[in-house]
Amino acid sequence: MDARRLAVLDAMGINSYVPRARVAAAPFATAGASLGPEAMDWDTLAATVRECRLCGLCATRTQTVFGTGDIHSRLMVIGEAPGADEDRLGEPFVGRAGQLLNSMLKAAGFARGQVYIANVLKCRPPNNRNPLVEEADRCLPYLLRQIELVSPALILCLGRIASQRLLGFEEPLGRQRGRIHRIGRTPVIVTYHPAYLLRSPAEKRKSWDDLKLAMEVLRRGDGT
Ligand code: URA
Repeated sequence: MDARRLAVLDAMGINSYVPRARVAAAPFATAGASLGPEAMDWDTLAATVRECRLCGLCATRTQTVFGTGDIHSRLMVIGEAPGADEDRLGEPFVGRAGQLLNSMLKAAGFARGQVYIANVLKCRPPNNRNPLVEEADRCLPYLLRQIELVSPALILCLGRIASQRLLGFEEPLGRQRGRIHRIGRTPVIVTYHPAYLLRSPAEKRKSWDDLKLAMEVLRRGDGT
């Protein structure tokens, strides 16, 4: 993006921006399917994810974890990858981190079923290791299509790995907070992952600040 465009975005309070072109450019090879995820409807996308064999995680997963919640929600929550509980039950954020996420959402005025929750990766990395770049690259088009179809007014991105893969950030999460980022035109607020908050409860106060910012962006409607 040229300097003038960046300056305009900066003046609008938009500090980072992932252009739609990145969606199209994301590497993807559909195994036998005629359409890429960017052209799929919700049911086709869900069925394609269920059968996905684009990376090695298909060999170790119990099942894929597509997402859960209201597909018409104004708020979409994006985490990193399924853990053991999610792999077993086929639903994101059902373990201890999920319980904390539910409490965070409740504090922000949302029941779990009122938001849409998904992960960057649809399959569990063995031993809960971080997702590999290749795995995230293969999986990201699914998530980007989910974002496009849900078309939320705001995305809440949980943790450094999700923000790295979704927004391309390398900087520490503490420096990404408190700002409005964008995927296409959709505003994105970054906050701590609930699993991190379970280990570092003192940071919950900061995550509440992030949620308040998220609520404010939702209330204003346009994220500016
Ligand atoms: N952590 C995540 O990032 N996603 C889940 O679904 C569960 C734990």
